[in-house]
Amino acid sequence: MFIVLEGIDGTGKSTQAKRLAEHFTARGRTVTLSREPTDGPWGTLLRNSANTGRLSPEEELETFLKDRRQHVAEKIAPALAAGNVVILDRYYFSTMAYQGARGFDPRKIREDNEAFAPVPDLLLILDLDVETALSRIGSRGDTANEFEQRANLERCRAIFLSLKDEPFARLIDANRSTGEVAQSILAALP
Ligand code: TYD
Repeated sequence: MFIVLEGIDGTGKSTQAKRLAEHFTARGRTVTLSREPTDGPWGTLLRNSANTGRLSPEEELETFLKDRRQHVAEKIAPALAAGNVVILDRYYFSTMAYQGARGFDPRKIREDNEAFAPVPDLLLILDLDVETALSRIGSRGDTANEFEQRANLERCRAIFLSLKDEPFARLIDANRSTGEVAQSILAALP
């Protein structure tokens, strides 16, 4: 089973991804929990660029794709082949949203990614209004860096929401307690 959590910054994806991993581990499944950008060389470059100066739009898109190609080849595909439950905190839907917000066509991004990246069985879209998301980020003490600007997040949120009617997608209201969101996620499992 291949499950992806998506949503704008501050929606609680990482916390929910961990809880979901624990849910499956407790039931005896082998879980591969991972995230993008990855901790590999391209992902590290991307994370650093949020603070040291963002790459040009073309370079940034290209780097997310390199990071993902490596992630699919070295981790995601082997884990799926081994029969593991694979849970990802962000995937190519984030490229559609964030690089789409930066001017690229989300449909083209999707096509380019689905040429090499497996489509998940379940896409959980954690949805939260941008105001609340920003206040959550603030309360975590993160700096409001460029990735996290308001107008940008509004565009990203709209692109995530445009995916909600895909047969493999479930919209999750993230404006609730961690426990309540976790319950909805369990209820969305096939
Ligand atoms: P994030 O999951 O927020 O990492 P962290 O919790 O370590 O800050 O990801 C960092 C940023 O990368 C986030 O603002 C979204 C952005 N991003 C893209 O722009 N495109 C992508 O394809 C991915 C996977 C992430």
